[in-house]
Amino acid sequence: MRTRKRVADHGEVFTPKWLVSDMVDLVGDEAERVDSRFLEPACGSGNFLVEVLERRLSAVRRTHPRSQFERSQASLLGLMCLYGIELLPDNVAECRTNLLQVFATALHLSTDDELARAARAVLEVNIVQGDALAMTDANGHPLVLPEWAYLGRGRFQRRDFAYRELTQRSLSAGTLFDVFDDDALFAPERTWPVLKVSDIADLATPASSATNISHADK
Ligand SMILES: C[S@@+](CC[C@H](N)C(=O)[O-])C[C@H]1O[C@@H](n2cnc3c(N)ncnc32)[C@H](O)[C@@H]1O
Repeated sequence: MRTRKRVADHGEVFTPKWLVSDMVDLVGDEAERVDSRFLEPACGSGNFLVEVLERRLSAVRRTHPRSQFERSQASLLGLMCLYGIELLPDNVAECRTNLLQVFATALHLSTDDELARAARAVLEVNIVQGDALAMTDANGHPLVLPEWAYLGRGRFQRRDFAYRELTQRSLSAGTLFDVFDDDALFAPERTWPVLKVSDIADLATPASSATNISHADK
């Protein structure tokens, strides 16, 4: 709890680590699978996302003990498959920082490393400021979230999806599943060219105005 006012206004209370851990246990190995997608819809500082990321990065260390290249790609994919929506901008910033910290520490990265910059670029689009009930962003527009996939040989596919259709149709149909056969629902807003880690790193805002890695914690 930060302040009583924030609790009253936004229901802002944070889940303790032990409870997060017990809850993530309920999904078993899914937390460790790097391409299993998790959304924390009112993510606060990202307590659940941090737990899932820590587990999957440990799993990546076990499954790729020798190849640093494979470890990097798998770890980045593990981060790419985590999503958060949060109303308050300071929580959004803290959530991104916490996840970047876990990622950079596990992979021994400093702020300027290409992989750290790529991770920052991913967090800027995967952890968004918005209303998870209305599925709108801070400007009231439909939320857009990227879908990332690994194509092999250091290449990633990104497609951006808007949630305008999904929320409106679910309201009229009563259930999301009524419209699952409608191809239009799954049309991306944008399909990016195939991206390498360096291309993704170039999408990050400059480090001076973005989330930084704290060297004190490394
Ligand atoms: C109970 S806290 C949970 C935070 C985190 N998930 C945890 O378990 O530690 C709820 C969070 O949701 C945010 N929030 C409240 N209404 C929201 C909404 N409509 N959309 C997105 N986030 C919201 C609050 O700012 C707060 O950070």
